Amino acid sequence: LGHRLVCKDELPSTQKEAQHLAEDGAEEGTVVLAEEQTSGRGRLGRQWHSPKGAGIWMSLIIRPDIQINKAPQFTLLTAAAVVKAVKRATGLDCEIKWPNDILYKGKKFVGILTECQAEAADVKAIIIGIGINVNTDIEDFPDELKDIATSLRIEAGKTFDRAEIIQAILKEIESLYKMYMDEGFHFIKLLWESYAISLGKKIYARKTNGDVIYGLAQGIDDEGVLLLRDDDGHIHKIYSADIELSSQ
Ligand code: BTN
Repeated sequence: LGHRLVCKDELPSTQKEAQHLAEDGAEEGTVVLAEEQTSGRGRLGRQWHSPKGAGIWMSLIIRPDIQINKAPQFTLLTAAAVVKAVKRATGLDCEIKWPNDILYKGKKFVGILTECQAEAADVKAIIIGIGINVNTDIEDFPDELKDIATSLRIEAGKTFDRAEIIQAILKEIESLYKMYMDEGFHFIKLLWESYAISLGKKIYARKTNGDVIYGLAQGIDDEGVLLLRDDDGHIHKIYSADIELSSQ
C-alpha cells in the first residue's frame, strides 16, 4: 500500500479526491494526502475539522475481491490497525468506540470513514478515510470540540513526525488486510474487540432516525454490526448510530 502517493497542499476532501481516482481506475494501494482540507467529511454527513499541517488527512483505495455486505468489516480492520500503529509510533494506548472512533482517555483524536464503490453485490473499491489530530493544539479546535476532542501532541506533550505515523498505519493495514484475505474476519474481530471500550457495558445508541435504544452492548457480529440487548432481552442490530456509555 502507498506505492502511489498523491500529496496536495490543499484539497476540499481527500475522500472525494480518492473516490474520483477510484472511479477512474486508480490501482489498489493509492493513497491521497492533504496538508489541509477545506471541506473534510465526517460520518453521517458531518464536517471534519482539518487545519493545515496539524494532522493526517488521508484516504486509501483498496480493491478486495469481496461482496458488499462484508465492506463494513474494513472499518473495523482499519480501526484496529490504527490503534496498533499509534501504539507503535507513539507508545500511547488508545481505545475504539464503536464503530470507528479512536479515543485516548475518553477523548476522540481519530475518525475513520469507509465508503464503498460496488457493481451489483461486488465490491469494486473501498475508500478508507482516516483523519488524525496529531500536532493540533487545544486552541486550534472549535469551541464545540474542545471538551470532546484531543490530539497526540496535547496528550503526549510533544510533536510527532506525521510521516512516521502514516508509514506505521499503512504497514498495519497491509498486514491485517493480508491476514483478512488469508484467514477471514475472525482474528480481526478478536483484535478489534480487545481494543473496544463499549462492549459488555450499558450504552445508549442514537440511531440516524433519532430513535434511542438503551441496552447492553453484547458484541459485534461477523459483519461488524453492533448487537445491543435491551432490558426485555431483545437483541437489536445496530447498523449506524452514535453511542454513548451510560453511567449505570
Ligand atoms: C468521523 O466522522 O469520525 C470520520 C472522519 C473522517 C475524516 C477523514 S480525514 C481524511 C478523509 N477525508 C475526508 O474528507 N474525511 C476523511
